[in-house]
Amino acid sequence: MKSPNEEDKTIEVEIERLLPGGVGLAHAEGLTLLVSLAAPSDVLRVVIDRIQGKVGFASIVEILKPSPVRIEPPCPYFGRCGGCDFQQLTYEAQLNTKVEIIRDCLHRIAKIDTPLNSHIHPSPSQWHYRARAMWQVDSNHKLLGYFERGSNRVCDVEYCAVLVPELQKTLERVRNEFPEATAMDRLRDIEVVAGDEGVSVAPPLAGFKTEIVSRVIGSETYHFSAEAFFQINHDLLEPLIAEALGDAKGQTAVDLYCGVGLFTLPLARRFEQVIGVESSTRATKFARSNLEFAKLNNAKVVTSRVSDWMKQHAHLFGPVDFLLLDPPRAGAENAVIAGISALRPARIAYVSCDPATLARDLKKLIASGYDLDSVVAFDMFPQTHHVETVAHLSSNSPAVVFSGAA
Ligand SMILES: C[S@@+](CC[C@H](N)C(=O)[O-])C[C@H]1O[C@@H](n2cnc3c(N)ncnc32)[C@H](O)[C@@H]1O
Repeated sequence: MKSPNEEDKTIEVEIERLLPGGVGLAHAEGLTLLVSLAAPSDVLRVVIDRIQGKVGFASIVEILKPSPVRIEPPCPYFGRCGGCDFQQLTYEAQLNTKVEIIRDCLHRIAKIDTPLNSHIHPSPSQWHYRARAMWQVDSNHKLLGYFERGSNRVCDVEYCAVLVPELQKTLERVRNEFPEATAMDRLRDIEVVAGDEGVSVAPPLAGFKTEIVSRVIGSETYHFSAEAFFQINHDLLEPLIAEALGDAKGQTAVDLYCGVGLFTLPLARRFEQVIGVESSTRATKFARSNLEFAKLNNAKVVTSRVSDWMKQHAHLFGPVDFLLLDPPRAGAENAVIAGISALRPARIAYVSCDPATLARDLKKLIASGYDLDSVVAFDMFPQTHHVETVAHLSSNSPAVVFSGAA
């Protein structure tokens, strides 16, 4: 919140709803206002920090009438730390807002009005769920934590309430053992991930190893380290995999952006042959050893950008029964959507961590002859506006070449 001396430049607004990105929407003085850290129906005094065209970016100076779903954010760093922007909402309101955000993106971006199954799987833990984190280092000012909201200044954090206990202990150890942060001189950030054997830290600090850790999800064992992507909220992974795979089985499955093989292993149990594609060599090394450990030799993992693989190799595959894609937040590149449309898998499962890019890509897939069968959400990131979504599509026509129009 802003200090009271900024009050002379303030205006009073009522928050209409929360938008994708987690900001509150209000209208005043001919502007569309986007208010950080708001709750729906809050009446607020806000200050406009920046104007871009007809859009003003505002922060709260005073809460005049709190929303019925507003609560006191428990974290002492709330508002300064850029991490958790939904702590001001009850957990139920967080879940409802995430469903609304997905509906809003599907409607506005993809013109999809299907009464989406509004089910969202809550997280078993609303706090202490985060098993992977990136900590920012500012060795000049001896700070370790997360970026401050809207900046790349480091917010010094001693305790983070969303970290799993093992990572909180590691944060304390790093802070105690590097009090001057001088040993971290050339470091800008530290990545950590918790597994059953402890915590993997990258890059390795004196006394901390980038060791390989593992986690059992369902009946599969996954090995990974801080240097390769692994999902954040491990408690939700079993239902996420179950939803993404559904009843899929058959001859050929493709797993795009496969990481260390989270979906590749269960797919290899159900399909005669599976191909996983992933650009990180560290991740593909783990994916291959995870398959070997599981004694699954019917899956091949290729190290390649998905767009390159699509252009150069996808046509070599016969009919594909099932294609799963789980891209980063930016979604799938145009060439990937075009490649999927040409490959024409009978069914697609799109696992997404950004409803806006999901909606953009679904629009293209639907235009190329796919029906949207279901959309189910998972609250992988409680206390933040982020949400994981699984969409299922099925082909309703023979292959058409996608024109690439946005
Ligand atoms: C959201 S993660 C999903 C990983 C895996 N499916 C999982 O659930 O653990 C996205 C993955 O895509 C990889 N990636 C990012 N851009 C890529 C690209 N252009 N081509 C291939 N892989 C990419 C990242 O390294 C990361 O492993």
